[in-house]
Amino acid sequence: MKFVTTFSLFCVLAIQSVSSMPISIQNSESESVKKFIRLNTYKSTASTSTKRLVRRQSEDVEQTLDNSDDEAYYIDLEVGSNKQKITAQLDTGSSDFFVFGSNEANCGDTSKADCATYGKFNSSSSTTFKKLNGVSLDVSYGSGAGATGYVGTDNVVLDGTTVSNVTFGVTTSADTVAPLIGVGYQALSAMTYDDSQYHSDGFPFALADAGVIHIPAFSVSLMDHDDTDEVNSTVTFGAYDTTRYVGSLYKMPIPHEEGKATYRIGTTLNGISIASYGNSSYGNSSSSSSTTLKWIAKGSQFVQLDTGSSVSNMPVAAYDYIGKTYFGSQDSSSTYHGSCDSLKNHTLYFNFLGMAYPVPLTTLSSTYNGDDSQCQFDAVPSYSGTMCILGDNFLKNVYVVVDLKNNEVALGSSVGVDYADTASPDFVEIVDSIPNAINAPNFDSAWTFNNSDTLSLVDGLK
Ligand SMILES: *[C@@H]1O[C@H](CO)[C@@H](O)[C@H](O)[C@H]1NC(C)=O
Ligand SMILES: *[C@@H]1O[C@H](CO)[C@@H](O)[C@H](O)[C@H]1NC(C)=O
Ligand SMILES: *[C@@H]1O[C@H](CO)[C@@H](O)[C@H](O)[C@H]1NC(C)=O
Ligand SMILES: *[C@@H]1O[C@H](CO)[C@@H](O)[C@H](O)[C@H]1NC(C)=O
Ligand SMILES: *[C@@H]1O[C@H](CO)[C@@H](O)[C@H](O)[C@H]1NC(C)=O
Ligand SMILES: *[C@@H]1O[C@H](CO)[C@@H](O)[C@H](O)[C@H]1NC(C)=O
Ligand SMILES: *[C@@H]1O[C@H](CO)[C@@H](O)[C@H](O)[C@H]1NC(C)=O
Repeated sequence: MKFVTTFSLFCVLAIQSVSSMPISIQNSESESVKKFIRLNTYKSTASTSTKRLVRRQSEDVEQTLDNSDDEAYYIDLEVGSNKQKITAQLDTGSSDFFVFGSNEANCGDTSKADCATYGKFNSSSSTTFKKLNGVSLDVSYGSGAGATGYVGTDNVVLDGTTVSNVTFGVTTSADTVAPLIGVGYQALSAMTYDDSQYHSDGFPFALADAGVIHIPAFSVSLMDHDDTDEVNSTVTFGAYDTTRYVGSLYKMPIPHEEGKATYRIGTTLNGISIASYGNSSYGNSSSSSSTTLKWIAKGSQFVQLDTGSSVSNMPVAAYDYIGKTYFGSQDSSSTYHGSCDSLKNHTLYFNFLGMAYPVPLTTLSSTYNGDDSQCQFDAVPSYSGTMCILGDNFLKNVYVVVDLKNNEVALGSSVGVDYADTASPDFVEIVDSIPNAINAPNFDSAWTFNNSDTLSLVDGLK
């Protein structure tokens, strides 16, 4: 794969107490009245999804991730009175929902709008569709992809549950391969009303307004779907599933700036460290005879949790350090690569407000140049800026619960989950806020948008 960053971000990683792994306090309350909807999300079977969508809105970080072998996560929906079948990519990094219209100009080109795979919506044939006059969809993503069209409201059916009055765009010209279902804050919406921003009722808010969930909240469990599809990745609106993480959920504020485009789903990253097994020749030998844990970067940085990005950013210094130290070689297009075997004993820990979440280095890598013994580092270096994106390859390791009402996320570690257990999910409804989540140790020290803190490489590393 090839990643191109068109501008910069700087990501940061911050730090705090390290070794606190999520501890185990399982909660198995089940509610008698179900007010949530769980959907399977799955990897596309189409091979046409070559573009990764990353950013919206011009003032933000933009970045192109060209990736011919990536994963994206899709959900199936039925739209309109006649239940037209649509498949859309789940995106926690944007806030607009749109479908390909029956007059979509690019349906003939599957690299722009793969209408045959993902479906088209004919708004004229749905008796419940109401066009919002004067409102238009005009969204552009960092990859250069975008979509334009008109906007309306209609019924959407999710796993048999009908949600009325959902606002969405109907494209006439799209270049996104698949329709998108952005589940972020309304402030990020790219729908415009007579040239000014129109704040649509964002998707999770529409579910709450329709009364099918209590508050705008959802949880996302992403998995690798390479080996088996016996278990699906899932998004659950209105609840979380205790079988999808180990230990406890830790709650953190979503740093936000009301009304600004920086209002994104994410949290505070305070550091990255690495645990290495079977190599006692570096690090603190005192920590364990066979395990060493050492800090790579510390500080404080906002990080976005974005299912619409297949890979993750890292501050360039941490990226280079990990690339050099654990992959070893760098090719002429700057991709770090090395023996896959040598990655297996290393696990990164991402520290968020005092809780550290394991991310095996192998999960941030993929086959290099078609040679199965060689792996490349699947992260994107960030050079400057204030935005850092943790995408699908990170999110496969972390269960994420998002509460858009109270501006909080709760994270659980999904490394070590026995997915056989997920066949009997144990849902906890999110009524007022995320239940039974413990405040992260440094909950009150969340990053804020008015500082310029970042992560930096710890002293002595280069
Ligand atoms: C959309 O539906 C209308 C009403 O059923 C029909 O007349 C029209 O031909 C359809 N358009 C397309 C492109 O299928
Ligand atoms: C539909 O949702 C919009 C906001 O998106 C709201 O203004 C309108 O009142 C809703 N209509 C109904 C019938 O609930
Ligand atoms: C996974 O999701 C797909 C698409 O919704 C569905 O057809 C399949 O039955 C699901 N598999 C399981 C094990 O739930
Ligand atoms: C990984 O750790 C195991 C167990 O400590 C050890 O036997 C093995 O040699 C290590 N592998 C590498 C590549 O360091
Ligand atoms: C073990 O640590 C040494 C010293 O940093 C390093 O040279 C070597 O590559 C490491 N081995 C593995 C398997 O990571
Ligand atoms: C490493 O050792 C130093 C000195 O004993 C100690 O201050 C530090 O906390 C240790 N770090 C870790 C990650 O164990
Ligand atoms: C920065 O933001 C925090 C939290 O929103 C606020 O309490 C503080 O007053 C702000 N500081 C400045 C210098 O604006």
